[in-house]
Amino acid sequence: MKSDDSYKNGRDAIRSVAFCTSSFTTACYDVSNMIPAEHDASSFTFDDQAESFDRRAGLPAASARDVALVLQELLDGSGLVIDIGAGTGEIGSVLASGSSSYVGIDISAPMLFAFRRKLGPHSGCLVQADAGRGWPIVSGQANLVFSSRAAHLLPPELFVRETLRVAHPAGAVVALGSVKREQGSLRADLRREMRRLLAAAGIRARGGRRARETLVASFETHGARPFRPRRVASWSVSERPADSLRAWREKSGLAGRSVPEQIKDDILRHLEDWSQKRHGEPTTSRQTVEHYELSGVCLPGRSTSENVCITDIVRNKGDV
Ligand SMILES: C[S@@+](CC[C@H](N)C(=O)[O-])C[C@H]1O[C@@H](n2cnc3c(N)ncnc32)[C@H](O)[C@@H]1O
Repeated sequence: MKSDDSYKNGRDAIRSVAFCTSSFTTACYDVSNMIPAEHDASSFTFDDQAESFDRRAGLPAASARDVALVLQELLDGSGLVIDIGAGTGEIGSVLASGSSSYVGIDISAPMLFAFRRKLGPHSGCLVQADAGRGWPIVSGQANLVFSSRAAHLLPPELFVRETLRVAHPAGAVVALGSVKREQGSLRADLRREMRRLLAAAGIRARGGRRARETLVASFETHGARPFRPRRVASWSVSERPADSLRAWREKSGLAGRSVPEQIKDDILRHLEDWSQKRHGEPTTSRQTVEHYELSGVCLPGRSTSENVCITDIVRNKGDV
């Protein structure tokens, strides 16, 4: 294993394989023809969020377990899960400790180090790689391709192409996870206004919902069957304007984009005033509910009639 320092330099397409002895991964997979011209992973990073991510954006442990349970049911207890943009591993660490094989890919070494702290000594395989430039995974192995709150950060055409390449010939499930906030929630309201301000500054926020819809539609053109988005976990949160604003100040960029410091500062100042007028004291808290939602597709088997599909497995969980 390499030291923390050895991950700080360099942004090659596939930089290093960390914490991993899995036979499913290959660092020498040829990605040279797979680099979309407009993709620039270096423009936005989660490196400086690794320590605060779980506190700021994490799920309750019980909810992460509920999500992992549904995903594990999809695999019927075994098979290979590829987790794209695995992050600090709140869900991935539960998957990795189950009976299926698990490979988590993330571009950010600090996020993976935070993930690593949650893992036992022999479970799971974490690979540091730019998933926007091809996945260091052997073809035809994956039973489940999972991406939680990360698929919108990657070029959709590459996501589709790599999923089809790594999917098991007998079929596979693609599950895209996201956190949904209640319509009237404070965070949803602040986020909407922040996105409006970014747009006014000529910066287009990265939208998870639109990206997931694009991916699902694209998979459908390859014969995949979409499943209805399902809520697989819900939890209550206490929210305060001051917390959202501080969290945005602390992390780099806004809404998945790198933003010049001056613009970011102007936007956050405006949001502070706006929020004070609309929601009152920044330290006043209110309760709301958040949900974890899975959407995605079932990829048909290439050579057999065997097929897995989430609709059968999570039929008892809440439809959205
Ligand atoms: C919002 S976090 C989500 C983390 C985790 N999946 C979760 O839901 O808690 C997005 C993750 O995607 C990773 N990521 C962003 N761009 C990436 C890329 N090009 N290749 C691999 N990982 C990437 C980030 O480093 C970050 O860990």
